[in-house]
Amino acid sequence: MPYEMILVDTRGEGERRTGFITLNRPKQLNALSDPLMDELGRALRAFDADDGIGCIVLTGSERAFAAGADIPTMAPHTFMSAFKSGLISKNWETILEIRKPVIGAVAGFALGGGCELAMMCDFIIAADTARFGQPEIKLGIIPGAGGTQRLPRAISKSKAMDMLLTARMMDAAEAERAGLVSRVVPAEQLMAEALTAAETINGFSGPSTMLIKELVNLAFQGPLTDGVAIERRYFHALFGSDELKRAYLPRVASGEQIAAFWSDPAHRLGKTWIDHRDINMVMLATSLAPESYLQI
Ligand code: CAA
Repeated sequence: MPYEMILVDTRGEGERRTGFITLNRPKQLNALSDPLMDELGRALRAFDADDGIGCIVLTGSERAFAAGADIPTMAPHTFMSAFKSGLISKNWETILEIRKPVIGAVAGFALGGGCELAMMCDFIIAADTARFGQPEIKLGIIPGAGGTQRLPRAISKSKAMDMLLTARMMDAAEAERAGLVSRVVPAEQLMAEALTAAETINGFSGPSTMLIKELVNLAFQGPLTDGVAIERRYFHALFGSDELKRAYLPRVASGEQIAAFWSDPAHRLGKTWIDHRDINMVMLATSLAPESYLQI
């Protein structure tokens, strides 16, 4: 079936090429409607299944990557119709479901669902014209495609709160400083830069690129509560370290200046601080359920 709201082509040389998907609803600034997202899902899956493709680039127009979910089609919903139809659900997270890397090449507006879609990409290369934002609050709604979850992880809680609560936009330079995008290039070089990055990836082992995508997303998307719980276990475990008991805490607790302690070369990080037996114990403990850990 032909595509009506996206353009699809392949570029580059070599055994594995790059699949390009261009969002193409110019009059609506690439607003993300369900039919568009269905087409996007179909194109992503087709490239993922194609052995001749190593990597995918998702882009929009010079003016807009995407200005958000399609507002007119969203407006008439009631709670029940949104719930029953799975509004902003089907085919919204296909980028995360496929195994090949997806580079977001963003110029112009990436707002609301557009910013959320860009954040689902494995990394973002931005044109110097790019502007990111989550302006849902201006519509009396909130983000519905992961904005409140992915933005703080990408750019820090404070900046995310600022953007989500004030609806201000972030330009490309600020987005790079904040870590939302990996590189910024002049707008006219965006496609070439994305293709060069994709071709570099295409030259590496396919399974390695798939594993890296899977594992980095695991690190990024794992629940915060699990991360904090594991951190707490390591923290507790350190109190079982002979080094800690003998050296650091007693000396600082007895009034020695922390700076003086660390200037002693014997205590520089990595020297003797943590006993390997402790680490092994914690590794074992963290792979077990909390109840088992408590019994150790
Ligand atoms: N949905 C549908 N159409 C949109 C749209 C959207 N999200 N954003 C822009 N358009 C349309 C406009 O209605 C306009 O169409 P007409 O010419 O037919 O009037 C066209 O695109 C051009 O827009 P503007 O004339 O407004 O262009 P501008 O340069 O003055 O402003 C803009 C650009 C700042 C992006 C502005 O259009 C804007 O603020 N858009 C809405 C952004 C927004 O609120 N996004 C969040 C949507 S909700 C969401 O995404 C929920 C979620 O989490 C999934």
